[in-house]
Amino acid sequence: MSPVTEARGSGAEPESRAARRDTVTVTDNRTGKSYEMPIEHGAIKATDLKQIKTSEDDFGLVSYDPAFMNTASCKSRITFIDGDKGILNYRGYPIDQLAEKATHLEVAYLLFNGELPRKNQLEAFVNEVKMHTFVHENMKKFQEGFRHDANPMAVFISSVAALSTFYQDASQISKPDLRRQHMIRLLAKVPTIAAWAYRHTLGLPYVYPDNELSFTGNFLAMIFKMSELKYKPNPAIERAFDVLFILHADHEQNCSANAMRAVGSSQVDPYSALAAASAALYGPLHGGANAEVLYMLQEIGSKSNIPDFVKRVKAKEAKLMGFGHRVYKNYDPRAKIIKKLADDVFEVVGKNPLLEVAIELERIALQDEYFISRKLYPNVDFYSGLIYQALRFPVDFFPVLFAIGRTAGWLAQWEEMLQDQEQKIARPRQLYLGSPKRDYVAIDRR
Ligand code: CMC
Repeated sequence: MSPVTEARGSGAEPESRAARRDTVTVTDNRTGKSYEMPIEHGAIKATDLKQIKTSEDDFGLVSYDPAFMNTASCKSRITFIDGDKGILNYRGYPIDQLAEKATHLEVAYLLFNGELPRKNQLEAFVNEVKMHTFVHENMKKFQEGFRHDANPMAVFISSVAALSTFYQDASQISKPDLRRQHMIRLLAKVPTIAAWAYRHTLGLPYVYPDNELSFTGNFLAMIFKMSELKYKPNPAIERAFDVLFILHADHEQNCSANAMRAVGSSQVDPYSALAAASAALYGPLHGGANAEVLYMLQEIGSKSNIPDFVKRVKAKEAKLMGFGHRVYKNYDPRAKIIKKLADDVFEVVGKNPLLEVAIELERIALQDEYFISRKLYPNVDFYSGLIYQALRFPVDFFPVLFAIGRTAGWLAQWEEMLQDQEQKIARPRQLYLGSPKRDYVAIDRR
């Protein structure tokens, strides 16, 4: 990065094509100076802009990018998305292959370690996770303290944060072994906390983990077990949930992953950071969207009401929830898999009557110029809610189900951030547009 005091004219020594490809030259019309900035991985460093200044005491140029529309906040090797082509890969493996062939814990191992586990590595990993599914008895009391109608996602967020109080060494995040232990703990305990938040809303007794079952089978047992001595999950439902967890496991720098990284960058313990990530997920524009889809479908009610609803969306009076994505400008590859998964689940539990409304709504929207021109396609949330509802999960619980899958990704993102030498505490700049300095005015003179 070097300031070039004169703009490059025709007499300048011609550079090689390769060198030219890797830099960009910016001319400041205020001073006439030109600056050459390296391009690495298709990006310039925003801090390189700082050298563009009008005087020594000028702070330098900053980039303005509300909502990170065009800013890469990190280098990552975890998840790749090509939003135009509708591609999603974890550590290079296409999501459809993982959804078809892997288990959720295998995917969690992949996200944590970068490679698929060998058989013995997976067995060790699964056993380790199972060792940590129980939570301290006081967690039960903590969760019991919430009102009977507390939103389960709010209970989940608070409980994850409360977990940090049980592990005094959780803040020693620079110790790799300890860090890993807490990552495993979180992965293992999140389903327990989630299931208990669910049982709480129904006034049902909490069910302890059954470590003879799979990760997902155990979760279903903690959700659905009643008086039977041993809960046996239906294999189709167990597999469907495992795949749902895989599909939700990571999605590169989305709102909650960014929260996990930003909060984690202050070097707080992973429980607190994961609670912050869960809070980010709670919102209706992120993990709360699948619940909004259900409300929307219920409000539409029947196929005959769809044209009116679409009209309202186009008039910006409503949003077609479960459609559109910051990154995907094509069909979300996860939505395709979930649509198929819905059929598997409905075969066991019967069709959700809202499915017909959803399919017709999708059909109409995909032919409408409003959605075509804005490249709005169904996202992961469009069909997942229908599956959850068919299994009689309350709508408020949907984001919690999302969080169970996403925990693996949040932890992988968090650890990658901690190990990245280029990262520091996340601290954006601002463009201050407020009042200039002024003197305090006594209250009786205002
Ligand atoms: N219904 C109607 N119009 C939409 C929708 C929608 N779902 N999504 C975007 N638009 C319009 C938007 O009004 C804008 O129109 P115009 O150009 O006339 O102003 C245009 O499309 C571009 O949208 P945007 O709001 O600039 O896009 P964004 O990247 O800021 O927002 C989004 C992405 C996901 C927040 C948005 O598409 C949305 O609100 N979708 C509905 C909520 C939803 O399904 N969220 C789940 C996302 S996937 C799961 C996850 O990652 O959490």
